[in-house]
Amino acid sequence: MSRLDSFIRRLEAQRRMLDWAAAEIGGRDGLVLELGLGNGRTYDHLRERLPEREIYVFERDVGPNPASMPPEDRLVAGDMAQTLTAFAARHGRCAALIHADVTTGVAERDRVLFAWLPAHVVVLAAPGALVVSGWPIEHPLLDELALPDGVPEGRYFAYRRSA
Ligand SMILES: C[S@@+](CC[C@H](N)C(=O)[O-])C[C@H]1O[C@@H](n2cnc3c(N)ncnc32)[C@H](O)[C@@H]1O
Repeated sequence: MSRLDSFIRRLEAQRRMLDWAAAEIGGRDGLVLELGLGNGRTYDHLRERLPEREIYVFERDVGPNPASMPPEDRLVAGDMAQTLTAFAARHGRCAALIHADVTTGVAERDRVLFAWLPAHVVVLAAPGALVVSGWPIEHPLLDELALPDGVPEGRYFAYRRSA
């Protein structure tokens, strides 16, 4: 498969995952946390699907497409290794959905580079919260979920935070 094919499949899987996650958290209170603003595409998708939700976005190098810039008070700029700790101190286990999109595209590299991330995710996820990620997040308090139809194994990952 060419890298272009692979990229397209990743985006299709991502859209399916986010649509599924948005429906899945219906009826559950809590914030949505978008880890990795980048160009702002997935943030834009989430805010369109979840217009009533408070969505906080975390990013080190803020420079999205201007149409996808979050409101100032919902953007947490800086290195997540620090900003997530500060956010958790203020908000506690606040999130109904956490979308981690900080992948480099190479799973082995992500596991090392973002080894600190799973512990932050579990501190922010409310009981029963959904965590979706472009790479496997391993933590004893996160139970892996079956993927929605149409998302190939290994393309995306979904977890439920145990109580
Ligand atoms: C794959 S991109 C996100 C793409 C985005 N979701 C979109 O749809 O356009 C990953 C982003 O995570 C950010 N990032 C990576 N490590 C970070 C860290 N430690 N703290 C904050 N942001 C980080 C990068 O700067 C990059 O913009």
